[in-house]
Amino acid sequence: MLNFKNEIAKFIAHAIDMQEVEIESFIETPKDKNNGDYAFPCFRLAKALKKAPPAIAEEIKQKIQIDEKYISKVEIAGGYLNFYINKKLQVEELLKAFSENEEYGKSDFGKEKNIIVEYSSPNIAKPFHIGHLRTTLIGNCLYRVYKYLGYNTTGINHLGDYGTQFGKMIESYKMWGKEYDLTEDPINKMMDMYVRINDLCKKDEVVLERCRENFKLLENGDKYCTSLWEKFKELSLKEFSKIYDILNVRFDSYAGESFYQDKMDEVIQILESKGRITESNGAKIVDLEDRGISTPCIIQKSDGSTIYATRDLAAILYRARTYDFDKCLYVVAYEQNLHFKQIFEVAKDLVDEKYVKGLEHVSYGMVSLPTGKMSTRLGNVVKIEELISETINKAKEIIEEKNPDLPNKDEVAKKVGIGAIVFNTLASTNIKDQIFDWNVALNFQGETGPYIQYTYVRTKSVLEKIEEFPELKSIKTEKLMDEYSLNLIDLLYNFEDTLKQVTFKNEPGILARYLIDVAKNYSIFYNENKIINEDKDLQNARVYLTNCVSKVLKQGAYLLGIEMPEKM
Ligand code: ARG
Repeated sequence: MLNFKNEIAKFIAHAIDMQEVEIESFIETPKDKNNGDYAFPCFRLAKALKKAPPAIAEEIKQKIQIDEKYISKVEIAGGYLNFYINKKLQVEELLKAFSENEEYGKSDFGKEKNIIVEYSSPNIAKPFHIGHLRTTLIGNCLYRVYKYLGYNTTGINHLGDYGTQFGKMIESYKMWGKEYDLTEDPINKMMDMYVRINDLCKKDEVVLERCRENFKLLENGDKYCTSLWEKFKELSLKEFSKIYDILNVRFDSYAGESFYQDKMDEVIQILESKGRITESNGAKIVDLEDRGISTPCIIQKSDGSTIYATRDLAAILYRARTYDFDKCLYVVAYEQNLHFKQIFEVAKDLVDEKYVKGLEHVSYGMVSLPTGKMSTRLGNVVKIEELISETINKAKEIIEEKNPDLPNKDEVAKKVGIGAIVFNTLASTNIKDQIFDWNVALNFQGETGPYIQYTYVRTKSVLEKIEEFPELKSIKTEKLMDEYSLNLIDLLYNFEDTLKQVTFKNEPGILARYLIDVAKNYSIFYNENKIINEDKDLQNARVYLTNCVSKVLKQGAYLLGIEMPEKM
């Protein structure tokens, strides 16, 4: 499909003799179409050209040679150059792109680039709680979007399946294992066992010492300790898989912390050979004071055991070698900001600069429920499974009321309930804390997953009414020149660009808000423009556009992690 943004970038780059790619990355799409279809903010060049933005705008305008086939006019507004594109050409291009591609918006933009998305990564033997929902869903969306744009993408679940806490779990099992039947509700029981042993450790040094001993035995491959640890892991994974299945989340690798057990010595050796390691009270640390981080990174504890950070460093080394990554994204809550700052800094001594540049912590905020709700049954930790089933139940109640005759209510309720959760989780910017409130998330008329699904169902019911779907060559594009159609066309045209923005910023919220825009604009189009019409040319054009909207909503929702019901 003709890329107007890219054409404009070429014109500008040619006029002032600059790199097209860079210019293109500056071009914006104004919200208010009175400011053009595309705008170039000249202040971006102020430094390089040593001129004030309005003067730059003036200069470009004078030198630029635009092709009128693409651009109908260029205007200066303050420090901006506003470009108005040839709308008819845009409509033609868009409709053609839809007729030619089964998967509109898919591209090979990222080809030959390797991306790792690390997400979810829960700790085994502990509940999967509401905070994990965000890493799981943000990561899943990024994974899907990068893939759709042609990146060679690997999804990793860096399971928290190692560390001194397993020494405690093993001790707990040795002491009280007989009291717990782990065939049922294993995670909660393991959690109980952990809390119980932890309390005891606080009171009794001897027990604590035994726990430490257990972890050492585990590290050295002791049979009994290893078999217990494997049991805890297997039981946990079984529970986590249930959640991944409901949410339709997949990983290419489950290489968690334990995977790096035999890969940490090398890390320590490399750091030692570079003179980065110092001793502090018997522990090995990397001092980062000279690099602007006042807390040192501990690499090995005084008892010789390694820690979380060491395993992360080993993972960086391993991933650089195995995946030759261009980007390695860590979707992890902001509580771990310092941790990632530290390990990214230490990584400079471990891997090539190219890899260090690719490391990125995709940090996100907290999630909570409105106080007083769901608390009694769930205790303090909100379990995802219960949140999901509660939401599906509520969705079912709404559907029951709105459309009592719907045949497959359970299936639809599942899609709507999960759609509500996924959208609510992804709609805000990553870093914002959020509250999960059913009244908001399940509002069919609000900015929600169900609203997008509802709009999709609407497009489907329009398309169902049509006896014969029109062919592209019969479409008269001049029938789509009204304001409502053009707004929609412009949005659909920007689908791929929106996906790119998601990857540039690693913010799924950009896609979520985009889909709301599409849905809202379709509702306006639907209310203002009679689709089923005596004027058959008009009808065909509007039906064709409806089908395009339908496809973008479905594909976009899939990329977010939402499935569409065909009726609701
Ligand atoms: N298991 C950790 C937790 O649940 C998150 C792991 C994040 N990833 C990493 N590479 N450190 O808090």
